[in-house]
Amino acid sequence: MATLVVPVILVCNYLVNPLGVHDANPRLSWQLSPVENRRGLAQSAYQIKVSSQPGGPADFWDSGRIASDTTTQIPYAGKALPSRTRAYWQVTSWDERGEPTTSPVGNTFWETGLLSRNDWTAQWIGASWHGAGQTGSPAPFVRRGFTLANKPVSARLYVTALGLCEAYLNGTRIGNDCFTPGWTDMKKRVQYRVYDVTAQLTAGENVIGAILGDGWYCGHIAQMGREVYGDRPKLLAQLEVTYADGKRDIIVTDDSWQVAAGPILENDLLMGESYDARQELTGWLTAKPAAGDWESAKVFPDPGIEISPSLTGAVQAHETLAAISAPRKTSGWGSTGFIYDFGQNLVGNVTLHLNAPAGTTIQIRYAEMLDANGNLYLENLRTARATDFYTCKGDPAGESWTPRFTFHGFRYAQISGLPSGILLGADALVAHVLHSALPEAGDFSCSEPLINQLQHNIQWGQRGNYFEVPTDCPQRDERLGWTGDAQAFIRTGAWNRNVATFFTKWQRDIADAQLPSGGVPAVIPGVDLVPGDGGPAWADAAVICPWTVYQCYGDVALLKQHFTELRRYVDFLGTQSVDDIRLHPSLGKWSGFGDWLALDGSGQTEGGTPKDLIATAFYVHDARLLADMARALNETQEAAKYAALAERVTKAFQQRFVTTDGLVTGNTQTSYVLALHFNLVPTELRPKLTAELVRDIKRRGNKLSTGFVGTPYLLHVLAREGQLDVAYALLMQQQWPSWLYAVTQGATTIWERWDGWTKEKGFQDKGMNSFNHYAYGAVGDWLYQVVAGIELDPLHPGYSHFLLQPQPGSVLTSARGSHRSPHGEIISSWKRTENSFEWEVTVPPNTTATARFPVPVGAKISEQGKPIAESTGVTRAKSDAALPTYELVSGTYRFSANWDPGISPANHAN
Ligand code: BGC
Repeated sequence: MATLVVPVILVCNYLVNPLGVHDANPRLSWQLSPVENRRGLAQSAYQIKVSSQPGGPADFWDSGRIASDTTTQIPYAGKALPSRTRAYWQVTSWDERGEPTTSPVGNTFWETGLLSRNDWTAQWIGASWHGAGQTGSPAPFVRRGFTLANKPVSARLYVTALGLCEAYLNGTRIGNDCFTPGWTDMKKRVQYRVYDVTAQLTAGENVIGAILGDGWYCGHIAQMGREVYGDRPKLLAQLEVTYADGKRDIIVTDDSWQVAAGPILENDLLMGESYDARQELTGWLTAKPAAGDWESAKVFPDPGIEISPSLTGAVQAHETLAAISAPRKTSGWGSTGFIYDFGQNLVGNVTLHLNAPAGTTIQIRYAEMLDANGNLYLENLRTARATDFYTCKGDPAGESWTPRFTFHGFRYAQISGLPSGILLGADALVAHVLHSALPEAGDFSCSEPLINQLQHNIQWGQRGNYFEVPTDCPQRDERLGWTGDAQAFIRTGAWNRNVATFFTKWQRDIADAQLPSGGVPAVIPGVDLVPGDGGPAWADAAVICPWTVYQCYGDVALLKQHFTELRRYVDFLGTQSVDDIRLHPSLGKWSGFGDWLALDGSGQTEGGTPKDLIATAFYVHDARLLADMARALNETQEAAKYAALAERVTKAFQQRFVTTDGLVTGNTQTSYVLALHFNLVPTELRPKLTAELVRDIKRRGNKLSTGFVGTPYLLHVLAREGQLDVAYALLMQQQWPSWLYAVTQGATTIWERWDGWTKEKGFQDKGMNSFNHYAYGAVGDWLYQVVAGIELDPLHPGYSHFLLQPQPGSVLTSARGSHRSPHGEIISSWKRTENSFEWEVTVPPNTTATARFPVPVGAKISEQGKPIAESTGVTRAKSDAALPTYELVSGTYRFSANWDPGISPANHAN
């Protein structure tokens, strides 16, 4: 640990040294490094200097010394910076003692991108050939040689594609991003990326090239067939070099580039990739390619869409998994097959290593599960072929291949097509785990191994489905940005990883997709699979997701950027209501997906909770969030307007759905959960609703019956309403429907359905049965918030002040949660016995926390051996009703509490 307070982790719009920034006022943030044994470390003032030169004078901006403890989201307010400008920044931070320290010189910057459309002089290029409605065509390889007068001192590649591209310079791949430029509505907007390629260029001859894939642009999307946006992939690239004397050269895509078809015969995100190694374009990245029919690239007219910066990390390969056992021989495609088990349901691709005669075609198939006979279970993939083919060139030294432009959701892979006599070992196939690059931000563990496996499954579900956009599933012919799933899981997602940039990008996709009516489609990017507004709990993601980003990261800029759209959306809900009941049945409109996949006895996929009840509950929620957003933006009138709307709709809700006895229409667990969670009933009725909810849970033998809508809030409601023991009983339940049933059946990700596979019934309906669907993983939020006990203080977005209040229960004897907040790592780690509670907590620099001890009021609490009253940085909270409560300044604490055996702590559930 440092001995000095140092501003560390300097980021601009959440990213370290981003290139291609378009924001006129990018937001700067830093953290203060913790200092051993020092409590109450905080900032008292800061000064930001922004310069055109590393360590130079603050010619772009000098904030001056600002007396403030703010360390995050500070908007740059200096000179307007033109395209291609690098701005070096340094911050001086004064601590609470008035001691200043300054971040290091020269290594922190952001760089502006190509801010105007006129900065792009490149033309869109591609091949003369293309596929058709169902079939693809060979991936174009494009290239161009060029000569540089000298070795440049600086070079940037600005690159995008309609489709996918992998760019190369002088034989070397540029960066390690995959599936770029990602997925946006390419009828309106495409993203570009910027790479610093200075080191890859030399004086004299150079070659630039790229391989183009179909991706979302012209490959299959869900069940919509191919060519949703266009007929063939195209590239737009601009290489800009600067020499020591300040002169510049620019190499752009145009008809001087050449194109050839190579070994990638077909590529498709859903269907797979086919590669014939005999057709490799040897030397295509050297001045004189030895193979290939190179022709002039075709130039295409500018589609006139927006070229926007990339705001978040691209998909990358993060981990490689080997098979956990020797491959198992089965019957395969025309020959023996070998099934590999990677021990983990994952999303990604594989590398194949083998030695076989030229012309041998190998098939690789992928599955999440095995059927009763030990064969790949493929039925749930629906029309996604998810099959790769590799034809060997017959290299006597062996050959290796990794598909580029496809990904699969799988735990098992089967290789077949080998000539008889060739046996494959465990090392012939390894799996690569691919997902959007988002920094890890948290972990949870406890004394119960099954819950630890649940947390593992939640994290893997997130990895596989935070893939360019928040998707529902990664394996079948769907893989869409389903809004309902995204909003159900976002809070949990934000504990595990830093998702701010990911959802900032997706919010732009939402804006692109918003309908003229103000409605928001069910899937974003808005492919027309489900036309019109996405309906309750789905379209509401438009409001819930940016609000969550604001809460977790203090990001007011995101709210500001989208406030008008969100207001338009909530006003639209008014047009969908009769007497303030959203989607009142008298309107006769399609009213959404209901409590999707609830097993509540209704026998319907959409569950038995009335859809207008769900709709109206979320209408209130949206209106309140909008009012809160307006408050955060100092829009006082708007805040009052939407707060009044929320109140009115709440009354309408009560009148229509709640009896004076506390019964809620539908009488499902989700009906009660929504009414309680969204505070839709008078306080005096809450115990009655809670009693009904608990009665239903108990009647089912301590089982839940909620679907996508009710599940994220179920345990929160129970814990808040004094039913912690019931919440724990549901958490620990091992019979389905429950979280742990899948875990006891060996699941390594979260399943789409509570009964995706059961001992009694086997596989559920093959038409919709994903084994990697994160929605039910939303319980992860409860593990961090209630079990480990780290909670946001909604009045202090971004964790500048937070709550520590673990609520131990059931058989758990210990739990630990950690979360890297915008200020640094928060830790809450406890162990308990019948009459003791040991608790280690870390409150990051520049933050404070309120700690509520789950111990009897008379317990003796000490900190590092001293009575708590003598502990530095700890003060007794003024209002501590039931539990001993203290205010903590930043620092690390080791508390221990003891009490006489027999006294039960107020909120322990047993
Ligand atoms: C998706 C879901 C989605 C649902 C809505 C399914 O096909 O996989 O996760 O929310 O449709 O109906």
